[in-house]
Amino acid sequence: MYTTRFLDLPPFAQAAGTVRLPGSKSISNRVLLLAGLSAGTTEVHDLLDSDDTQVMLAALEQLGCRLERSGSVLRITGLGGRLAVHEAQLFLGNAGTAMRPLTAALALLAATQGGDFALSGVPRMHERPIGDLVDALRQLGCEVDCTGTPGYPPLRLRGQPGGRLHTAQPIRVRGDVSSQFLTALLLALPLVAADGEIVVEVEGELISKPYVEITLNLLARFGIAVRREGWQRFVIPAGSAYRSPGRVHVEGDASSASYFVALGAIAGVDAPVRIEGVGTDSIQGDIRFIEAAQAMGAEVTGGPGFLEVRRGAWPLKAITLDCNHIPDAAMTLAVMALYACGSTRLTNIASWRVKETDRIAAMAAELRKLGAGVLEGADFIEITPPAALTPAAIHTYDDHRVAMCFSLAAFAGVPVRILDPKCVAKTFPDYFEALFDLVCTGVEAVPVITVDGPTASGKGTLASAVAKALGYHFLDSGAVYRATALTAMRIGVAPDDEASLARIAATLPLHFIGGDAHLGDENVADALRAEDVGAMASKVSAWPAVREALRQLQLSFRRIPGLVADGRDMGTVIFPSATLKVFLTASAATRAERRYKQLISKGIPANISTLRAELEARDERDRNRSVAPLKPAEDALLLDNSELTVEASMARVLEAWEQRRPFG
Ligand code: DC
Repeated sequence: MYTTRFLDLPPFAQAAGTVRLPGSKSISNRVLLLAGLSAGTTEVHDLLDSDDTQVMLAALEQLGCRLERSGSVLRITGLGGRLAVHEAQLFLGNAGTAMRPLTAALALLAATQGGDFALSGVPRMHERPIGDLVDALRQLGCEVDCTGTPGYPPLRLRGQPGGRLHTAQPIRVRGDVSSQFLTALLLALPLVAADGEIVVEVEGELISKPYVEITLNLLARFGIAVRREGWQRFVIPAGSAYRSPGRVHVEGDASSASYFVALGAIAGVDAPVRIEGVGTDSIQGDIRFIEAAQAMGAEVTGGPGFLEVRRGAWPLKAITLDCNHIPDAAMTLAVMALYACGSTRLTNIASWRVKETDRIAAMAAELRKLGAGVLEGADFIEITPPAALTPAAIHTYDDHRVAMCFSLAAFAGVPVRILDPKCVAKTFPDYFEALFDLVCTGVEAVPVITVDGPTASGKGTLASAVAKALGYHFLDSGAVYRATALTAMRIGVAPDDEASLARIAATLPLHFIGGDAHLGDENVADALRAEDVGAMASKVSAWPAVREALRQLQLSFRRIPGLVADGRDMGTVIFPSATLKVFLTASAATRAERRYKQLISKGIPANISTLRAELEARDERDRNRSVAPLKPAEDALLLDNSELTVEASMARVLEAWEQRRPFG
């Protein structure tokens, strides 16, 4: 997961390959609640692991459910409809799919078995309405207090043992703000349906019906056969009791699939984008996003558990669509609209305003930053693409879907900055990694920052810190020379045997795992840092044939989303087109002292004046060799860090980087 402050996406060209989707959020949290209320143990396969499921799991554990994880399987032993814990304070983050059903279930359980539960979330959760559900629960006789603003969480749910509920008359709930209120009641009411059937009547037009279908489908899997009469009346039969199906498989998230369907439609030019984990047999309503994508031009094929998408019409076709049936995935259409000929209008999306953020306002503001013309109303948005996109820094409002769908704007030839990329953790923690596995671009489009300088100038520390801050790949090019030197020393090749050294370099089995260098199966991170290896590397690296042999290996590090490379000739020879070149120096005295401290801290004996002499000799050799001598690139930013902390040096580099970015 990218936890950086922002993530810059270079302009992408095409996309192809296979993505395996994480589990559906809607199915995961419903299954968890049902398993938690059932008697016995349910084995859940491919559960989504994200912020929203984690708060649900934590709540169930607090309530006394037993959870055991092994690999992608979670075993959950439920309460069998009996409270094990009668008092708890539950924090539910920004997970509507946890807040609403837990409110209903705990209100009913407290009212009949006695209890006192406090439910809260992040500040945005406290702005998301729950009043319609509270009203329905109060009709039943539950004691529900909104302890902050009336109609919104936080909530307190209380009751005495032996309390009676008014389940004989129909319970009325509004269905036009969020379908989750109805879902919450349907999931929870079987708890109190032992003695008589319970009727729920929906007031107003029910929105997001497909989500209610998921609810009914999963209730059936847990032994509750709700009778549906149109979309206005639902009957929970008398004697209903949750029965664990034993094993449940969570299908991939159809809303998450929408980004990859769009990816295929926009950029699946030579080969399709294949999506695994969700297919044409999906029980999720957002699967119907594919019809909308097809209407815009996508070519989609699929079967059980998979989809394949390619570009069809190009530019895409503008559409006008009632999106009530695909509220979440419809956001993806708003970004696809940037590639359409004409204006795309998405209607009947009032529910966007009460989601993770006010999504109509958010989408409008961010699309405008890219240059699009946007009209918005209480329940619609209309997008007209600009002739050319403007590079923009996209604010994501702590809304995973805003972050994911705007990543698709990077196909219009300009980079896109996604602020706070970690917000995707709500449903798809590794979204950007999955995206980067599928997209490609011309090598020159991938940004590079080079940090060159003499030995012990701190360039490795600085470069890796900058790479971490930007979420970029990192190349310690010294390691490729050191690895060549180490191999030569081990097999007894002399430092003046250019041909043999070049052969070693050309077939070097060097790769990096979590920042550590490996030669074949061996982790050589420590071995490479030895002083004698460094000295040998300095000699080895003077040979033109060696440098040439290691060139391709170094170039291969230039991958999406970007690279920070440190060495001697990164800016001058290997990446002469780098966007930012830094030449880092420090006085010989400072560098000798740093190297001394480094060695002593590792328990390696050292002598400052010897170190300084060796360092100066190495500088001399690196500077005066005939190929790729150590020298600043003409356009390099010269930085003497003798008096600077790593943080201060990093701030300078990041500031210089910002000046070279087009985000204003
Ligand atoms: O940066 P370092 O100390 O790990 O580098 C070891 C040796 O490798 C150094 O003396 C010179 C050589 N080198 C090089 O010639 N070109 C590079 N890009 C990186 C290192």
